[in-house]
Amino acid sequence: MRLLAVGIALVAALVGFWLRSYNQPGSPRELFEVRCSTCHARPDLLGYTVQEKRGIVMTMLRERGADKVISPKEAAQIIGYITGSSAETKDKEQGDGDT
Ligand code: HEC
Repeated sequence: MRLLAVGIALVAALVGFWLRSYNQPGSPRELFEVRCSTCHARPDLLGYTVQEKRGIVMTMLRERGADKVISPKEAAQIIGYITGSSAETKDKEQGDGDT
């Protein structure tokens, strides 16, 4: 019984360490929150239009050196998340065959 408790504690410690060291963001929201707060606090993008948000990300990438920490693929995901547009919603806007 005591051996089992020691085993569980060991596994918990290992998992905790793994979670901390393996800090790779997965979802677009995580990408935004982790990547965009690398150089400053997480930006508050409320009040910007879709075009402005896209422009901000491009400015960060081209002029502020964010391309060192954000890959083009991640940038696309971040733009999709902060502008609320994804490939899915774009597909839906292409008409429903009513014409
Ligand atoms: C490599 C560093 C870096 C990264 C990564 C980065 N920024 Fe910035 N950002 C800056 C610098 C430098 C400034 C200007 C100085 C300041 O305000 O701290 C800035 C300023 C801003 C501003 C203030 C408005 C402006 O244009 O000055 C916003 C909004 C912003 N960043 C959003 C973002 C977003 C969204 C991301 C993620 C896509 C991001 N930043 C990632 C460096 C970075």
